[in-house]
Amino acid sequence: MPAASSREHSASAGRLGSGPAPGPHDAEVLMRVQGLSLHAGGRELQRDLSFDVRAGEVLAICGASGCGKSTLLRHMIGLQTPQTGRVTWVAGGEPRDVHGDDPPRREIGVAFQAGALWSSMTVGENVMLPLELYADLDEAQREQQARFKLALAGLPDPATFDAEPASLSGGMRKRAAIARALVLDPPLLCLDEPSAGLDPLTSARLDDLLLRLKHEVGTAIVLVTHELDSLFAVADRLLFLDVDAGTATALGPPAELRDHGPAAVREFLTRGRPPAAHPSEETA
Ligand SMILES: Nc1ncnc2c1ncn2[C@@H]1O[C@H](COP(=O)(O)OP(=O)(O)O)[C@@H](O)[C@H]1O
Ligand SMILES: [Mg+2]
Repeated sequence: MPAASSREHSASAGRLGSGPAPGPHDAEVLMRVQGLSLHAGGRELQRDLSFDVRAGEVLAICGASGCGKSTLLRHMIGLQTPQTGRVTWVAGGEPRDVHGDDPPRREIGVAFQAGALWSSMTVGENVMLPLELYADLDEAQREQQARFKLALAGLPDPATFDAEPASLSGGMRKRAAIARALVLDPPLLCLDEPSAGLDPLTSARLDDLLLRLKHEVGTAIVLVTHELDSLFAVADRLLFLDVDAGTATALGPPAELRDHGPAAVREFLTRGRPPAAHPSEETA
């Protein structure tokens, strides 16, 4: 896929709407990123990022360590303001700048690497917190909603609600953080390396949860991940941030990019072992 593919894809997505009924891959656009550059410590990490996040899709953000994936997520949720470019929430009504006066706080659920649970609160209190801030519910309704989201995230044991975060396993804490991110029923969930530090089985179960959210709840997920298994299992599209080029060099379905993407992307998606171009020659 050519280097300009990210722009081509987002441009074509922008024209959708007048054609036939949307399928899973040409759905409504939730968020539009346009001409975004990322800076950290006075250095430009990435420039000219343009892509859409579509309703119900899992969009994986990949690239070498330090290329700017977490920085991109922080810009997408409005935690960091761009020097160049913009991020716009375009679903449901007037477009809203993520960094403007009326940011889409309720529309985006976030579970970050470091942004784990508050250790001073129980799991249930953690999950209810966004409801206290943004929803008009009484205590009993908040608890009911929080327990429902914990069960949805794979923590159905009623005792978990009153547990201290420190008493949970790493995988359970990730699930609780995802329950908290889901408690306001956001159409978009942003996850930064959710399987970091988890064993392969726990990590695979987390993939199952993401697939359930996508298929049963219809939540779109932006997922930063290094895990190839996870990527191929759950991602509809992959955005590759190239650390050397300083911009996105590919956007498309992971399997397509593994077979036909730019060299750096193929290498990333095959752990540096792309299939031999002529396997028959090797065995001859
Ligand atoms: N607040 C900051 N000040 C200075 N440098 C930063 C800051 N945040 C991130 N960086 C640097 O920016 C680069 C990209 O960081 P990050 O977005 O976390 O990358 P990734 O998530 O892709 O590993 C890294 O080299 C990191 O050290
Ligand atoms: Mg990161």
